Amino acid sequence: MKMKIAILTGGGDCPGLNGAVKWVTKSALDPRIAENRSISFEVLGIMQGWKGIIEVDPDDPKSCEKYIKHLDEEVVRSWDRYGGTNLGTSRTNPFNPQNDRSAKLIDNIKKLGIDALVVIGGEDTLGVAYKLHKLGIKTVGIPKTIDNDLTGTEYSLGFDTAVNVIMEEIDRLRTTAGSHGRIFVVETMGRHAGWLALHGGECSGAYIILIPEYPFEMERVCELLRQRHGREINYSIIVVAEAAKPAGGQEFIKDCHVDDFGHESIGGIASYVAAEIQRKTGFESRHIVLSHLQRGGTPSARDRLMARWFGIAAVDMIINEDFGRMVSLSRGEITGVPLKEIINKLKLVDVEKYYDTERYNGRRTIL
Ligand code: F6P
Repeated sequence: MKMKIAILTGGGDCPGLNGAVKWVTKSALDPRIAENRSISFEVLGIMQGWKGIIEVDPDDPKSCEKYIKHLDEEVVRSWDRYGGTNLGTSRTNPFNPQNDRSAKLIDNIKKLGIDALVVIGGEDTLGVAYKLHKLGIKTVGIPKTIDNDLTGTEYSLGFDTAVNVIMEEIDRLRTTAGSHGRIFVVETMGRHAGWLALHGGECSGAYIILIPEYPFEMERVCELLRQRHGREINYSIIVVAEAAKPAGGQEFIKDCHVDDFGHESIGGIASYVAAEIQRKTGFESRHIVLSHLQRGGTPSARDRLMARWFGIAAVDMIINEDFGRMVSLSRGEITGVPLKEIINKLKLVDVEKYYDTERYNGRRTIL
């Protein structure tokens, strides 16, 4: 049997995407599969996520050249070393009720002769994959988001590299914070969940960590700082997730632009927290927004490994005709989960289990 598969990356980029594309390609084109399973694959990369497959004109070679890349072992050989996505990405939503282009999408999938789609994305991109699956398109998903907030999997590509970026930047900030005796408030990404702030803050020894799952009292933040600075420590690092909010308040919205999936751009909380600390305590405070640095750079060892394993598992799923599922990590094992179970839900930080609500930090009891 011959099968044409297409891979796309959607939503925010992150390190690990290229590795996943490489390993889908390499495993699909492994000659032993053709021999042992009587199946031979052709692999296409779709440029710019859902946008590419909607906008391509299958009858126009120039347009195909722009949006469709033929992938083979030689093309993807070194991809796993590099961050970002060589396939490009977009936040295009084919099912946007204001501009529904799903019919064009399905038509193009058929015209291009694509038998199965490998969709690498977060909640929004995989939500589209699930809708397509319900419409009869064969899809498998690979989880990615530095926020690590997808349900059904313990790991999503990009998270580990982002946590390492947070740690490295905080290590750098410490010297200047210490020299000047300042408070530094570091804003991490995390549109809904506090995983990046919590893990980034824990591994870099931040004094206070503020997460969206537990609205904070500004007065308590100041009290904790007064206690610490009373002990002759002259500087502190506070990590705050972009979606964290003061008790009774709202998330800080950066600008009013709303993307195709209806998300606003969040940000600004670190600046607020730093200004409030300075006003209420008199401690000199600065803030820094790590922003897209967290999504940049080369993938960590963990992201390279997970990309490899997820990519291989996605091809296994196709061979086993296990469509409508996402590869996942569960109890340390690579497995699969129905897309249906992961959409419209998020994996948030379990405050009771992982967060110390008195000290605004990770818990000090684990067992
Ligand atoms: O969902 C991933 C994420 O990195 C969020 O943490 C962040 O809020 C958002 O994407 C930023 O998106 P953009 O790249 O469109 O600014």
